[in-house]
Amino acid sequence: MDLNSLLINLGPYNTFGIALNAQVFYIKNTVNLIDYFTQMPDKPYFVLGGGSNIILTPEIANKNILKIEIKGIEIVHTESNDVFVKIGAGENWDDVVKWSVDQNLSGIASLSAIPGTAGATPVQNVGAYGAEIKDVFVSLTAYDTKENRLVTIKNEECNFSYRNSIFKSSEKGRYIIIDILLKLSTISPIIPDYAPVKKYFIDRNNTNPTLQEIRDAIIEIRWSKLPKPEELGNCGSFFENPIVGKDLYEKIKSSYPDVPGYELPNDVVKIPAGWLIEQSGLKGVNFGSVRTYEKNALVLVNSGGATHEDVMLAKQEIVNKVNEKFGIVLQSEPEFV
Ligand code: EPU
Repeated sequence: MDLNSLLINLGPYNTFGIALNAQVFYIKNTVNLIDYFTQMPDKPYFVLGGGSNIILTPEIANKNILKIEIKGIEIVHTESNDVFVKIGAGENWDDVVKWSVDQNLSGIASLSAIPGTAGATPVQNVGAYGAEIKDVFVSLTAYDTKENRLVTIKNEECNFSYRNSIFKSSEKGRYIIIDILLKLSTISPIIPDYAPVKKYFIDRNNTNPTLQEIRDAIIEIRWSKLPKPEELGNCGSFFENPIVGKDLYEKIKSSYPDVPGYELPNDVVKIPAGWLIEQSGLKGVNFGSVRTYEKNALVLVNSGGATHEDVMLAKQEIVNKVNEKFGIVLQSEPEFV
């Protein structure tokens, strides 16, 4: 077996742009993956996709990086309006969305322009503009590092919830995702049920947009609120939107009548973390070499040369301030590795 590995600077491999070195193994197919685990180098490993939801710490030097570069987008089965598509974990996610729109297959256009790889989408049940990957996800193939074999894991076994799945919680680190199977549709798309998207089409008097028009709308709205990682290092939302009891939400509302909130079943409400941070006076604020983005307080950006310590300090300060003001403890979204 010939495992191809190099000691390299991971700066270009994480969208936050933290520059640290580690040994990278390039996994281009299932054989490479099985070879790696058969040989089992005597070091912990970290599975890297697009690096869009991680903050690197110096610990990374003690790990082997498995950079998943397994490619392929293939229609495997069609059943009336349903089209089943198998996607290699290493495909760039937005290339997959673009491909689906070019094929006129609906289901993932709302997830346009999300950085990262296809294999990462089930891990935190990626979501945007009213859609989540769980809505179209059928199953995935993975290498089970506990039992040393390939397995198929179905949607209902993933235990998907808001920004979560077994791959991020109970079974964290166990499965290495090889490919995902999605169910797309030949039925015409409907306008996503999300206020800014609806407004976009009302403003344009377009009641029946094409898939391409929906994708264009999502891309435009997304980049008006989020910085492009190529231009300004970041990893998207830095915090999850907290889900709080209705009583607390009502209490906040009595002082802040405009507080946004999405009511969920069981008397709980999801409040945008970006709003809480902005109201705590922390929008566009510097913490050493990181800052909250001027246009969206939910995003931490790398002002240049950021380290994980700067990020930790910023995180702690934001969590403390929001907690003091609203009695809500924010949870960060990216993984520190
Ligand atoms: N808001 C503020 N101040 C801010 C930021 C937001 O007041 O600085 C308010 C907005 O005015 C709006 C509300 O917060 O009323 C919600 O904002 P937005 O629609 O931009 O969505 P979000 O809740 O901040 C979530 C996801 C994003 C996803 C968008 C669109 C989370 C943690 N974030 O953001 O996901 O793109 O909805 O669906 O759920 C990501 O996970 O990396 C990500 C970008």
